[in-house]
Amino acid sequence: MKNSPPPSSLRQAWTDLALIALAALLCFVMSSQLELSEKLTAFFIRHESWQLDEWPLSLLVFSLGLCWFAFRRAHEAHRALTERQSADEQVAELLRRNRDLSQRLILVQEDERRALARELHDEFGQSCTAIRTDANYIFHARPGDDAGILASARRIDHTAHHLHALCRGMLARLRPPALDSLGLTAALQELCESWEEQTGVACHFFPQDVPLEVSDAIAVTCYRLVQEALTNVTRHAGASQVRIDLGRSADAGSVKLRIEDDGCGMTAPQAFTSGLGIVGMRERVAALHGEISLAPATSHGLRIEATLPLNGPAA
Ligand SMILES: Nc1ncnc2c1ncn2[C@@H]1O[C@H](COP(=O)(O)OP(=O)(O)OP(=O)(O)O)[C@@H](O)[C@H]1O
Ligand SMILES: [Mg+2]
Repeated sequence: MKNSPPPSSLRQAWTDLALIALAALLCFVMSSQLELSEKLTAFFIRHESWQLDEWPLSLLVFSLGLCWFAFRRAHEAHRALTERQSADEQVAELLRRNRDLSQRLILVQEDERRALARELHDEFGQSCTAIRTDANYIFHARPGDDAGILASARRIDHTAHHLHALCRGMLARLRPPALDSLGLTAALQELCESWEEQTGVACHFFPQDVPLEVSDAIAVTCYRLVQEALTNVTRHAGASQVRIDLGRSADAGSVKLRIEDDGCGMTAPQAFTSGLGIVGMRERVAALHGEISLAPATSHGLRIEATLPLNGPAA
């Protein structure tokens, strides 16, 4: 960033200097014409008893002091201006990044909706057509065609099972069902167990003194944080185990969640890569007026700590 003053203020500074030089020159010419110094000296000597002859020197020192004072203030003002300009640029950059992220979040949301719509159209459409065809077959079956009717009924049963599984999968993507049926602690326990089974990475969950009055917003946030953290461990960490702690803060006013892995850890710039997971985590926590930190774990991996106030918004 370039912080040089704009040309108009440079021009103004040169004009001021020229005016000062002109005033000094005029003063010199007038003083020479009127012999001003001699007259002043004679005046001061006449009032020597009041020490008036010491005033010019003192006033000169005072003027120099004022010059120094002005120089220092100008310097400080320039520094403050520079800092403000750089803060403004940082704010503009953050706003730009925020806009980018919002756009990407909207795109991701749209992708997810498109995928759900495609599944609804393809899978549900096909399955319903298959069920209708088989039902039609049964409806128009000739008496005695027991084998055909049985085969159609089996196909209907199979398709209905398929639709049910599909529906459950879609619902789970929209909202973790275990949260409603089991509650936060059991839902996280189930999530850990199924993730451990899928990935073969040990996942230890330690709930301790979890507040009973956890709101739905906090429960969903904790669940989504753990989900994203576990996905990241699978994709980036190369860890052999993960530890998850859920409890309450020392003052009992917040829920505390800690997820720690023993993988390769994360460098600061990686947190600002094009991924949306960590950004989403931060946004979810910020929406509940909570705090989140990502730091190296004792086991060299990554430690994510989130504190969510129990009386935050929508809590
Ligand atoms: N547990 C982890 N261990 C090591 N590195 C990690 C871990 N979690 C995240 N990272 C690093 O932080 C980056 C950002 O993670 P983030 O979840 O935001 O994005 P992503 O996983 O790459 O993509 P997305 O989550 O959007 O599908 C990752 O690319 C990875 O380099
Ligand atoms: Mg991720």
